[in-house]
Amino acid sequence: MVQGVMVKQAAVQVGETKRQERVPDPCIVVVFGASGDLTKRKLLPALFHLEQEGLLPTKFAVVGVARRDISAKFGADMQDGILKGGGVDASDEKLKGFMDRVKYFATNFDDDAGYERLKNFLAEIDKKLGTGGNRLFYLAVAPEYFADITDRLGKHNMTKPAVPGQWMHVVIEKPFGTDLKSARKLNDDINRVLDEDQIFRIDHYLGKETVQNILVFRFGNGIFEPIWNRNYIDHVEITAAETIGIEGRGPFYEQAGALRDVLQNHVMEVLSFVAMEPPDSFEASAVRAEKLKVWNAINPIEVEDTVRGQYGPGRVDGEKVIGYREEDRVDPESGTETFVAMKVQIENWRWAGVPIYLRAGKRLAKRVTEVTVCFKQPPLRMFKSDAERSQVQPNVLRIRIQPDEGISLIFGAKIPGPTTNVMPVEMHFDYAESFGKSTANGYERLLLDAMLGDGTLFAHRDGVEATWALMTPILEQWAKRPPSNFPNYDAGSWGPASSDALLMADRRKWYKL
Ligand code: BG6
Repeated sequence: MVQGVMVKQAAVQVGETKRQERVPDPCIVVVFGASGDLTKRKLLPALFHLEQEGLLPTKFAVVGVARRDISAKFGADMQDGILKGGGVDASDEKLKGFMDRVKYFATNFDDDAGYERLKNFLAEIDKKLGTGGNRLFYLAVAPEYFADITDRLGKHNMTKPAVPGQWMHVVIEKPFGTDLKSARKLNDDINRVLDEDQIFRIDHYLGKETVQNILVFRFGNGIFEPIWNRNYIDHVEITAAETIGIEGRGPFYEQAGALRDVLQNHVMEVLSFVAMEPPDSFEASAVRAEKLKVWNAINPIEVEDTVRGQYGPGRVDGEKVIGYREEDRVDPESGTETFVAMKVQIENWRWAGVPIYLRAGKRLAKRVTEVTVCFKQPPLRMFKSDAERSQVQPNVLRIRIQPDEGISLIFGAKIPGPTTNVMPVEMHFDYAESFGKSTANGYERLLLDAMLGDGTLFAHRDGVEATWALMTPILEQWAKRPPSNFPNYDAGSWGPASSDALLMADRRKWYKL
């Protein structure tokens, strides 16, 4: 009880310090691809959450850029997104003031004259609102436009400060490349125009509190780090399971698949946080260097240690759902994987010999993203019979990234009574209980950091290439051997049988989530 109160007081103090230190300079956030879903569902709600928190500069504007002329309804549409984003009601007095500063600008992304007009439009806003010439360009567009838009921004002198101290930052959405070669090319293309410290390659998983907390949990506490290694840990599982299907994104998903869509980026980012050495500081360069060491220490992944699957029809949450091949704009004979699992080995002093099992998939039994750290069993000599011994389960630490965000430690306890019977019990920390329910969607922190120029929670050039270097050989092998057994799992299940077999071969089982 007393401790609970202390946690809350500490949180208020952190919030106040944050407020003083972390308000960006006056600026304009310019979102390319503003007619898309992301702007309405995530970016505008996140920006408004920042406004509510007092974390936006008072001299501030948002400009949505897209092809269609939707200026008449843009504001209402964005306001709708903000209201649906939660944590605000229509009568909120800050809302009107914020919406007055949300503008729309229509142009084609390949129209040079449009960039000149946009430049003038932004300069007018600078004059009116005092936004100081600082820009956060957010490229929420299809990946084929990333390089072209960056190039044209450069060509029209929109990426270099007109006066010292001004800044122009560019956020690039995922997917960042589709393999090593394309990621390198994209890096080369944008690096021709922008310095690395102007580029913010976003991975929204790094905006999740629970993911950031992995570092605090590991390095802000004394008791976990000493056992965070091959001497104590048997294996680690990272699961990113979704119940949703492809949500009408057929053409995109056909080209992507689960490995490119989620595993190469979100899951690998989480893995780096779980496995990295303590950085010297939370500075971008220190954190990036440690993440890179993890990815570089991963042994080349054998295709035999990978599993791919595709969902057929089934039931999810009691509802009948169609199979992937029946989805809109999907090839009825598609070989695209909607599930991927693999075993990776990090060949360094901390992790050698500790298998790390990763999996991600759509239309699975449950929506859950979790890191499950399974510890080694102690010697069980004092438990005499096989029956007694079998009751003693290894300790498990569960870091629940979403939903029901929290951390649990499973350990054995004696069942009260005259005999020695052991049962696993759970010690649990729940975010909502300790800190209250949050309506943040993860983009708040990332948008704020991008405005402030803090790249700690963004992917770096070397990191992106390192993860693609690991994944590309698998994709190449898979392409050579198209799957003959798709669909191989029912929607609403835990994926194909081969996923269980992957762990069974090591005499292990996926932890039941
Ligand atoms: C996106 C993928 O990057 O992440 C989607 O493109 C996926 O396919 C989504 O559904 C998952 O994000 P979250 O935050 O819901 O786990």
